[in-house]
Amino acid sequence: MSCVRSSTSVLRTFVRELLNILPLPKLTILTLSKLSTWGEGKGEGMRVLGISGSPRIGGNTDILLDKVLEGAKSKGAETEKIILNKLKFSPCQEHEKVKDDGTCLLQDDLQDVYKKIKAIDVLVLASPVFFGSLSAQTKMMIDRFQCAWRAKYILKKDNGFRKIKGAFISVEGSDRKDFFENAKSIVRNFFAVINASYKEELFCPDVDGKEEILKKPDCLEKAFGLGQRLVKGG
Ligand SMILES: Cc1cc2nc3c(=O)[nH]c(=O)nc-3n(C[C@H](O)[C@H](O)[C@H](O)COP(=O)(O)O)c2cc1C
Repeated sequence: MSCVRSSTSVLRTFVRELLNILPLPKLTILTLSKLSTWGEGKGEGMRVLGISGSPRIGGNTDILLDKVLEGAKSKGAETEKIILNKLKFSPCQEHEKVKDDGTCLLQDDLQDVYKKIKAIDVLVLASPVFFGSLSAQTKMMIDRFQCAWRAKYILKKDNGFRKIKGAFISVEGSDRKDFFENAKSIVRNFFAVINASYKEELFCPDVDGKEEILKKPDCLEKAFGLGQRLVKGG
């Protein structure tokens, strides 16, 4: 009897050790945890796309956006950044014979941006204040979503953009709240079209020179925290 017991416990120990050595169970657990967090708003496996609308690479918008993405990454998200100024795309041409499937006729770099936004969980849009509102680069991109607006509101059909979270961050040289509000109202409109809920915002005034935002650690800290919150759930 005791011999049976001890051989059973040896077998149990062997199986336990085998489970520890074999990579398969661990892989399974990882895959399952990825699957279980996907789409539930938790950090791991979430895809966060940052879009910068500033022409000044390494400037204030760029630095602030990087901080947000760093925060998201620290919570396990996959992050990517697009700099609109590096893309080649045309402003909306108001084609009257648009395809009625929510897509745009213009075949340029923005086609890739549509595809990317359709595949992410969180969008962080970043723009400096130019003439009291968004930069031209940012507005030019937004206008190109008219096809999605038409599909959603006129044709009342699925425009291909699934529900995601959205955040808007901005900087300006002055300290004018109304400028940020102008920009925000356009972004809210844009987010509604692409089915992004307006979850977070961060506005940093009084930054004008390139990299001046580095002298504002509170702004950078807030950006990092914002990135973390975006992937933390809810
Ligand atoms: C074309 C242009 C227009 C601007 N218009 C405004 C404005 O209306 N209000 C303001 O506060 N700052 C304005 N600024 C200042 C920028 O918002 C500020 O320099 C910002 O930090 C630039 O961000 P960036 O480094 O990411 O490009 C303007 C700057 C430029 C180049």
